Amino acid sequence: MKPALPDNYFTQKYALTAPHSEVFAALPSLSVGNALDLGCGNGRNTLLLNLKGFKVTAWDRNPRSLENLNRIIEAEQLTGIETQWVDLNNHRFNGNWDFILSTVVMMFLQPATIPQLIADMQASTRKNGHNLIVAAMDTPDYPSQPNFTFAFKSGELSHYYRNWHIVKYNENVGQLHRTDENGKRISQRFATLFAQKTFVKD
Ligand SMILES: C[S@@+](CC[C@H](N)C(=O)[O-])C[C@H]1O[C@@H](n2cnc3c(N)ncnc32)[C@H](O)[C@@H]1O
Repeated sequence: MKPALPDNYFTQKYALTAPHSEVFAALPSLSVGNALDLGCGNGRNTLLLNLKGFKVTAWDRNPRSLENLNRIIEAEQLTGIETQWVDLNNHRFNGNWDFILSTVVMMFLQPATIPQLIADMQASTRKNGHNLIVAAMDTPDYPSQPNFTFAFKSGELSHYYRNWHIVKYNENVGQLHRTDENGKRISQRFATLFAQKTFVKD
C-alpha cells in the first residue's frame, strides 16, 4: 500500500495557495464520495479532496487555471478528477453529489445567477450530503469591493439554506489577498455556510 501523502503535498510541490481553511474544517464531517468544486481555480481544494479519496468534478471558466490543474493531474497521474470549462453564469446542472463547494467565487458571478445556482447545488446534493459556500458580503461596516459583481447581504445566504441542517454559518470579517494603497490586506465580511441536506426533496 502506498503511504498517504501529507495534506500540504500539492501546495508545497506546485506552490499553490493552501486549501481553503473551511475545507479543512469541513473534512471531519464529510463522508468520502464525489464532490463538485464550482470555480475550482488552480485546484487547491480539488486536489486536497482527491487526496482524501473523493472523486472530484472541477469547473472553472479560466482556461489557464484549468491548464495548471490538468498539468498537475497529468504529472501526478491522478485518477478521479474531471476538469471542465464551465461558465457558471450560463450553466444549469443536476446530479448527485456528496459535497458541493464554492469558495470565494460567487462574488465574481452575475447577481441573477445566484438563486438558480444555489437551487441547482441544493437539488444536486445527495441526502445527507453537504454544501460549503464562502463568499464576500456587502455590509454597512464593510462595503463590497467595487469590482465584485455580487455580494451577499446579511442573512441572505443562510436564508437560502433555511430548510437544511446548518452546521456552520457566520459573517465574520476576513482578509482578501489583495492589498490597499498602503500594502495592507483589505478586510471584508464573508458569508461562510456549511450545511447538510437531511431530506430527499427540496
Ligand atoms: C478567487 S478564485 C477562487 C478559486 C477556488 N475556488 C479557490 O478557493 O482557490 C475565483 C475563481 O472563480 C472563477 N470564476 C469566476 N467567474 C466564473 C464563472 N462565471 N464561471 C466559472 N468560474 C468562474 C475564476 O476563474 C477563479 O478561478
